[in-house]
Amino acid sequence: MNAGRVAVVTGGAGGLGAAIGTRLIGVVEHVVLADRNLDAARDRAAQIPGAVALPLDVADDTSVEEFVADVEKRYGRLDVVVNNAAVTAVRELDALQRADWERLMAVNVWGPTALCRAAAGVWRGSGTGGRVVNITSRTWLSGGPVAYVTSKAGVVGLTRSLALEFAPLGVTVNAVAPSMVATPFTRSGRTEAEYAAFEARHLAMTPMGRFATPQDIAEAVGFLASPGAGFITGEVLHVCGGAQLAPSP
Ligand SMILES: NC(=O)c1ccc[n+]([C@@H]2O[C@H](COP(=O)([O-])OP(=O)(O)OC[C@H]3O[C@@H](n4cnc5c(N)ncnc54)[C@H](O)[C@@H]3O)[C@@H](O)[C@H]2O)c1
Repeated sequence: MNAGRVAVVTGGAGGLGAAIGTRLIGVVEHVVLADRNLDAARDRAAQIPGAVALPLDVADDTSVEEFVADVEKRYGRLDVVVNNAAVTAVRELDALQRADWERLMAVNVWGPTALCRAAAGVWRGSGTGGRVVNITSRTWLSGGPVAYVTSKAGVVGLTRSLALEFAPLGVTVNAVAPSMVATPFTRSGRTEAEYAAFEARHLAMTPMGRFATPQDIAEAVGFLASPGAGFITGEVLHVCGGAQLAPSP
């Protein structure tokens, strides 16, 4: 069994997940990049000393239970859970199918819930305490694509509720709310022209006048996962250059 603290990052094959995994080395000794896309997660892990990739589908309860059991078997502990995996869906209410909605809620809301529930089993047994950082989105405040934004507002509700439930375990639960970061996620479902217009709108509404970088988001997660953040729980940390202040046009 490996010695040292352990963080798991769901969606670890993605742009933000890999940056978060990189940042967490030092806060912990071992990072597990967990993703449905194992090959891509392996490629990312190969770039991060101290990281490994493991398969995980957060929407599948069996996968979640097996994943947490595997982490416990390998490392004997679990210190940090970063719920970063998410999917998006069509934007227009009229075009939204119930199956799309259900898939999105299963990944974006039930996934973090199920993983936290499984991790709580480890924390109850170990008494070591821990950290949960949920990745929401600035849009939970502003509104936007209905299914995606509803799921991200749900992640805030989950964060606040689990902060109360996990406090006696010595586990903090916080959320990080990024604004737009240029990753495949933000391009998905948009034509080039739509994407260019989307980018321009974001720059116009951001007082600090630039997009977020994966590093910006990773730094916030690294802080909330660190020992120094041990008395902060139930918070939403916006990492969006002031865009959460919704300045008037
Ligand atoms: N990119 C942005 O501009 C932006 C802005 C605000 C919030 N966010 C949030 O940041 C997080 C990461 O976004 P990203 O841009 O890196 O996205 P991404 O699409 O690059 O990465 C998401 C990862 O999640 C994985 N994934 C999807 N479904 C999964 C499942 N069921 N089980 C396990 N893994 C699964 C994918 O394989 C992928 O590797 C998401 O929660 C997203 O909502 C992103």
